[in-house]
Amino acid sequence: MGMIIFLIGFMGSGKSTLGKRLARRIDFEFRDMDHCIEQELKMTIPEIFSTKGEAYFRSLETSFINTLDPEKNQVIATGGGAPCFGQNMYLMNEKGVTVYLRLSPASLAGRLLKARNVRPLITTIPPEELIKYIERKLPEREVFYNKARCIIKGENVKSAHVVSLVFGKEE
Ligand code: S3P
Repeated sequence: MGMIIFLIGFMGSGKSTLGKRLARRIDFEFRDMDHCIEQELKMTIPEIFSTKGEAYFRSLETSFINTLDPEKNQVIATGGGAPCFGQNMYLMNEKGVTVYLRLSPASLAGRLLKARNVRPLITTIPPEELIKYIERKLPEREVFYNKARCIIKGENVKSAHVVSLVFGKEE
């Protein structure tokens, strides 16, 4: 029997960094949803948004989730918006264990300041307005994120902590 662990959360919450560490720790395959979509289309996320549009990108996220094999052990770092469109959150909860990495708007803003240009939704937001954007957007998204099986404080999170949450044991 296999298991999929989905890491979900806002842009900049550290899903990919934690995902890699977690996968290494429990010997699961690691896959980054955005990276897989980029490879499939041979385009970057900003290129997909600008040439094909956001709605098309969202359909790719849903297809990606649909094609995952729940019999394979894997950790998936999802895109920040993925849980919030269509039936994606429901699908992920059906297929595996969802873990929401929860961070404060201030922590997220600090992390996102330097990484705005690879993220089309925030590229044009002036640095001083980023926190306001997050404070407005995060509660909308938490309606979906809060449906996760596990919720974990994302600042300084350790992969061992996720292991104990998901598998119910301390390492
Ligand atoms: C998005 C988050 C991004 C990426 C795209 C849209 C979002 O992923 O999927 O830019 O809607 O929040 P990260 O969460 O890895 O930044």
